[in-house]
Amino acid sequence: MIPDNVPEENVFYGSGDLKKESHVPSFDKYKELYLKSIDNPDEFWGAVAKDFFWKSKPTGPFLSYNFDVTKGEIFIKCMEGASTNICYNLLDRNVHERKLGDRVAFYWEGNEPGDESSVTYRELLQRVCRFANVLRSQGVKKGDRVSIYMPMVIELVVAMLACVRIGAVHSIVFAGFSAESLCERIMDSQCLLLITADGFYRGDKLINLKHLADEALQKCRDKGFPIKRCIVLKHLSKEPEESVDSHSPPAKRSCPDLQVPWNPEVDLCWHALISEASDECEPEWCNSEDPLFILYTSGSTGKPKGVVHTVSGYMLYTATTFKLVFDHQPDDVYWCTADIGWITGHSYITYGPLANGATSVLFEGLPTYPDVSRMWEIVDKYHVTKFYTAPTAIRLLMKSGSEPVQKFKRESLKVLGTVGEPINPEAWHWYYNVVGEKRCPIVDTFWQTETGGHVLTPLPAATPMKPGSATFPFFGVVPAILNESGEELEGPSEGYLVFKQPWPGVMRTVYGNHQRFESIYFKKFPGYYVTGDGCRRDKDGYYWITGRMDDMLNVSGHLLSTAEVESALVEHRAVAEAAVVGRPHPIKGESLYCFVTLKDGVGYSQTLEAELKKQVREKIGAIATPDYIQNAPGLPKTRSGKIMRRVLRKIACNEKDLGDTSTLADSSVVDELFQNRCCASV
Ligand code: WTA
Repeated sequence: MIPDNVPEENVFYGSGDLKKESHVPSFDKYKELYLKSIDNPDEFWGAVAKDFFWKSKPTGPFLSYNFDVTKGEIFIKCMEGASTNICYNLLDRNVHERKLGDRVAFYWEGNEPGDESSVTYRELLQRVCRFANVLRSQGVKKGDRVSIYMPMVIELVVAMLACVRIGAVHSIVFAGFSAESLCERIMDSQCLLLITADGFYRGDKLINLKHLADEALQKCRDKGFPIKRCIVLKHLSKEPEESVDSHSPPAKRSCPDLQVPWNPEVDLCWHALISEASDECEPEWCNSEDPLFILYTSGSTGKPKGVVHTVSGYMLYTATTFKLVFDHQPDDVYWCTADIGWITGHSYITYGPLANGATSVLFEGLPTYPDVSRMWEIVDKYHVTKFYTAPTAIRLLMKSGSEPVQKFKRESLKVLGTVGEPINPEAWHWYYNVVGEKRCPIVDTFWQTETGGHVLTPLPAATPMKPGSATFPFFGVVPAILNESGEELEGPSEGYLVFKQPWPGVMRTVYGNHQRFESIYFKKFPGYYVTGDGCRRDKDGYYWITGRMDDMLNVSGHLLSTAEVESALVEHRAVAEAAVVGRPHPIKGESLYCFVTLKDGVGYSQTLEAELKKQVREKIGAIATPDYIQNAPGLPKTRSGKIMRRVLRKIACNEKDLGDTSTLADSSVVDELFQNRCCASV
């Protein structure tokens, strides 16, 4: 499956020399290790596991599983019988065993330039222990779910690791999600407690986070699910004397519009609680397959699914992928620009880097604030060596040309990474030539919330790169391409991307709904994990992701289900029916193009359009705000009444060649929609 020889022409390498120190210095070494990881996973992962602390050893094989629904329940188990604690491995082990206590774990760079702090491994351990004691004193126990809705601050990492230390299961909700989305997620996982903050700035925009959290808690109460406790971090309203350590921001950030409603029956102040807590906190030893966290991702039916990851496999997999894909070295300064509210932030800001004792940048702000040079300014400021971002950010910055990049030196950079969506070759070349000055390999990492870590990816010193291809599988991962009838295709081919066996970090279930887990990922092709992505394999064996095969859209690297947006639209009293499709967008990858059929007697207006956009923003969050809304008196349907999205996609893109429309019930609808399409380009 891995080619014997990789092509020598039309491929790229970084011209910088990583090989001398690299963990995987050649393609041959990659191949050798890959075969070992497949033929003898016990030995391959056993060697990895030796670096970690285990309270008790596993009692069975490294991995056991069933991927075939026709043979019984789907399950994946890794290192059964072993017990450990990830927080202990990320912090105590690094401080005490590896003597990294004085190493900086995070350089925190605030939204506003100049607002900065840092935390060492020793300080992080102390802060996590204190907060873990706070959680225990609030009655949080092993297995309880805790919801976290916070900006990108060090305390977010503290909150998540404090949960992990006491065996509680964190469910982080991205702080850009709406109150409604937060409520839905709190209720689905039956969280005991919410941790949030007063507010934060995104660029020059103030987000009154506590206000949104309160709204969510009220909605939970209205639905019969009262949350008793909400811990609130004063991030914007913190006074200097409340600083918990010398690295805290120097002065109160000025924000006259900050609203921090306070309900003394529910709300507790983070700072007051930790000031009384002890620095000592015995970790809760967890079994390998105990749940570690829940993270919600869009489901194609509209209801988000709570992806569950478990302790040991996720720890080993994120640690190993981080180490090898970014070729981590002790003097690195690593920076992943994702938000911790997404899986990229979970695996590659918190778990993978800390497991390796890495020093990272934790950035609160935006790539364009105060200007489009901010990223490169930060790279120079901290001497960032490994940099990981999303194609949408690259395209956004590319629009401003090379000058804002070249104002800064970027000499420290060694490896560049991308994640979240296919990277178009133009953006790839710009990243490679301008940002990395042909010196830095680009690791185009394909993976999903569900996969826990990278599954298709180059290794920086080993894999010849082709712009736009995620290249080859990571260790332990066995991909295949299937046709519609479920047959495995050999050689150059295109079809459904599936995986034939588990790797340690793959998800274990959908929280509270194992049946949904089986039916989404395993039913279509028994015996395989189905990614939902299309994929092409070229003559050299390289894998190229071609995009989603289901009703999911990828807007700025975030997956959204069309059904989720449609249901937010039809909840508006004026809307009878809605259909949402993706339209290619030069920066966001895809934009949301919505067709709405109004109820009889309702007229379409600008005011209504603004209301509908607001409605979607409030139901889901700003990331789902429609780019276009078209009044559609009728929608193209088959004779059996199914909306023909394929036709709507053509209308959104103004492509007149509709292909086969013989099943269309009324073709005049299509002409009318073409005439009235939203043609402005965004
Ligand atoms: C897409 C993000 C092409 C893909 C880590 C996948 C990619 C979905 C890439 C998962 C990539 C992610 N090339 N497509 N390098 N990385 N995707 O769960 O469609 O937010 O299924 O996880 O993003 O998105 P999720």
